Amino acid sequence: YGMAVTKICCIGAGYVGGPTCSVIAMQCPHIKVTVVDISAQRISQWNSEKLPIYEPGLDDIVKKQRNVNLFFSTNIEESIQEADLIFISVNTPTMTFGVGKGRAVDLTYVENSARTIAQFSTSDKIVVEKSTVPVRAAESILKILSANDKPNVKFQVISNPEFLSEGVAVENLLNPDRVIIGHEETADGLWAFKQLSKVYLNWIPESKILKTNIWSSELTKLAANAFLADRISSINSISVICEAIGADISEVAKGIGLDSRIGRQFLQASVGFGGSCFQKDLLSLVYICECLNLPRVAVYWQQVLDMNVYQKSRFSNKIIESLFNTVTGKKITMFGFAFKKDTGDTRESPAIHVAKTLLDKGAKLNIYDPKVDPEQIKKDLTHPYVSDNPENVFKFIEIHDNPYRASHSTDAIVICTEWDEFVNLDYEEIYKSMKKPAFIFDGRKILNHETLATIGFQVHTIGKGHKTINMSSELTKLAINAFLARRISNINSM
Ligand code: UDX
Ligand code: UDX
Ligand code: ADP
Repeated sequence: YGMAVTKICCIGAGYVGGPTCSVIAMQCPHIKVTVVDISAQRISQWNSEKLPIYEPGLDDIVKKQRNVNLFFSTNIEESIQEADLIFISVNTPTMTFGVGKGRAVDLTYVENSARTIAQFSTSDKIVVEKSTVPVRAAESILKILSANDKPNVKFQVISNPEFLSEGVAVENLLNPDRVIIGHEETADGLWAFKQLSKVYLNWIPESKILKTNIWSSELTKLAANAFLADRISSINSISVICEAIGADISEVAKGIGLDSRIGRQFLQASVGFGGSCFQKDLLSLVYICECLNLPRVAVYWQQVLDMNVYQKSRFSNKIIESLFNTVTGKKITMFGFAFKKDTGDTRESPAIHVAKTLLDKGAKLNIYDPKVDPEQIKKDLTHPYVSDNPENVFKFIEIHDNPYRASHSTDAIVICTEWDEFVNLDYEEIYKSMKKPAFIFDGRKILNHETLATIGFQVHTIGKGHKTINMSSELTKLAINAFLARRISNINSM
């Protein structure tokens, strides 16, 4: 193998590849970073004024580094040939057909990347698996690469999962909690580990770089996402009890989070989790357990997904029940369509589930999201999984670029995404323009419900019962022990 890494190629210019390589380029001026994609449209967007993804802080970095040491290109061949190190960060969707349909991860794009690397490489390469892929994918990549071996070309495959969270990706990349690098337990594997470490050491302290074997690294990524999703389903399950007994999930979450063994972050009860990772990774984990003949573990993790489906339906059903059991012909405003704030991404967004349920019952929707592309909303709501009558959907949805117009003359507002700007809207103004009684369903618990009630709104939220005796304190004690016990079962399952 040659000397230190001076040229990096990244296959896949998406939510992972784009931000990751932009930050590497910024922190490593001596490295030439080229991001390639099969989609010419994606690449031309990365080279334009309007980037294909919205991520706070990213525009500035791309503007600074682009065509300095950061390049976006469709010339995959050339970029692979000149690179010392290649990231694979292509999409890894859930299979839509065949064995494992709806559960297993579709590795077609990863496999194609490996074949492309094998085909074009004329010198030694370190190949870094970055996409979220099921455990043992590195092995498949290596098999493809070595089956296509050429004289004078050696490949080292290492696993380096990405833990960035959308909306705070730049922050996460600049200051990650940890960087995990899994390598083969050979001299060459160790060398490859050192090469990639050197790249990160340009801005990340050595103490944060974790050296593991390949399997541990791959499983860590799946397990981390499973633990996080589990926390949300756990707090959401407690929110159901709160509604039933007259406790308040915000109080309970605070009481739970102050236990340092549990911690305060990621305890926000909600309409349910979305995003490209949690569901996909849980499905993949469940599928892997079944394939390994570990049905108990599979069932254990499936419950996290089941609770999420339940939470999304509960919220949608509550809207319908509160609107006097019928939404046919009613106009409902949706504030937020992205799966979380500060992103334009709608993959697996709970808003899609809520919209589908309301549309199925004959409601008309006025949708406003500050960052989601209207075309994306149309695409999501006319997807075959969502509707078998796309023409009809177009008749029943209006996409707005202003929250006041979106709520004008409607019966209810449904908050699906926790965008900051929703907190400071003029709700008195909004109330005046709405039909009465005017309802607000806060699926993210971001608004001041007392103030809204004073204005005159009928307010409904997640995890707040309307009983006279507040049971939060009793429930908190039970919930803490439930969370702690769950954590131990989580790690034991791995
Ligand atoms: C996640 C992981 O956090 C990240 O480490 C991994 O690399 C990719 O998957 P992401 O999906 O981008 O990141 O966002 P995240 O902040 O984890 O939120 C996922 C979903 O959970 C969102 O729909 C969010 O609204 C929801 N959520 C999150 C809650 O409902 N409550 C919370 O307390 C936290
Ligand atoms: C628990 C709660 O921690 C405490 O807050 C509550 O008031 C009473 O219940 P306790 O049962 O005394 O306290 O001990 P704890 O340290 O929580 O351990 C419970 C069990 O979990 C033990 O069998 C322990 O060995 C096991 N455990 C704990 C693990 O297997 N792994 C761990 O990482 C931690
Ligand atoms: P993620 O969220 O994991 O980054 P995205 O879907 O945002 O996923 O991005 C993945 C990108 O990978 C897409 O832009 C897609 O066009 C690209 N891609 C998929 N397969 C290949 C391939 N074989 N070669 C180059 N790019 C690819």
